Amino acid sequence: MPRAELDQITYRKLHMGDHDLFEAHLLALDPESRRTRFGMATTDAFLVQYAARCITLNAIIHGAFHGKTLIGVAELRPIGDLFTEEAELAFSVASNWRNCGIGTNLFGRMLRSARNRGFGRLYMTCLKNNAPMRTLARKFTAEISLEFDESVALVSTPRRSIISVLREAIEDATELTTQALDWQRRTFARRSLEQSPLSR
Ligand SMILES: CC(C)(COP(=O)(O)OP(=O)(O)OC[C@H]1O[C@@H](n2cnc3c(N)ncnc32)[C@H](O)[C@@H]1OP(=O)(O)O)[C@@H](O)C(=O)NCCC(=O)NCCS
Repeated sequence: MPRAELDQITYRKLHMGDHDLFEAHLLALDPESRRTRFGMATTDAFLVQYAARCITLNAIIHGAFHGKTLIGVAELRPIGDLFTEEAELAFSVASNWRNCGIGTNLFGRMLRSARNRGFGRLYMTCLKNNAPMRTLARKFTAEISLEFDESVALVSTPRRSIISVLREAIEDATELTTQALDWQRRTFARRSLEQSPLSR
């Protein structure tokens, strides 16, 4: 992937309004990627249902974007009650964007989110032959402890620090400002188009 294309990738958390992008990203995964992502073969109908119920208030979903296209996703879902310290992790990157560091970037962001929310134990579907995911996770062994069995990885995260909390808060605020400015720019552009004599 050319450097110029990689420089255009942006990262932000997904919200309810991103449902269509999330669904399109999942549906574009080929059968093998679906199998490694979910640990089983999945149909389009399953993915449509999954996308419909998965952007919830307690889930944290980080996205990687190229322009308006969602090209990578990292999902963190608490397992159990409100005070649980356990969560489920999952990753998917569009096949034409792999091996460019997007998964690694999302993993780092996700670890920080997990740590800031006090999730100490994270579980991830990671089939034995999923070499890219295993290689990626091993890059973080300075920060986390990792245990693999046949199909699941257990990631133990360190406790939060004031620095990790502040970093996430600053990033969220920056993303929000960027989105607000983008929304304002698009509103102005639409209004000027509506008021233009050519559009009458
Ligand atoms: C796993 C996945 C998220 C990785 O995303 P990615 O953006 O390609 O990840 P990165 O580029 O940051 O890192 C991948 C690493 O795996 C390495 N890798 C790729 N293929 C490999 C292979 N066959 N054997 C060993 N390592 C491999 C890459 O070289 C890279 O390491 P490097 O940065 O040291 O070169 C992506 O492959 C994917 O979406 N797979 C389908 C869904 C899935 O399996 N999800 C994980 C389970 S939830």
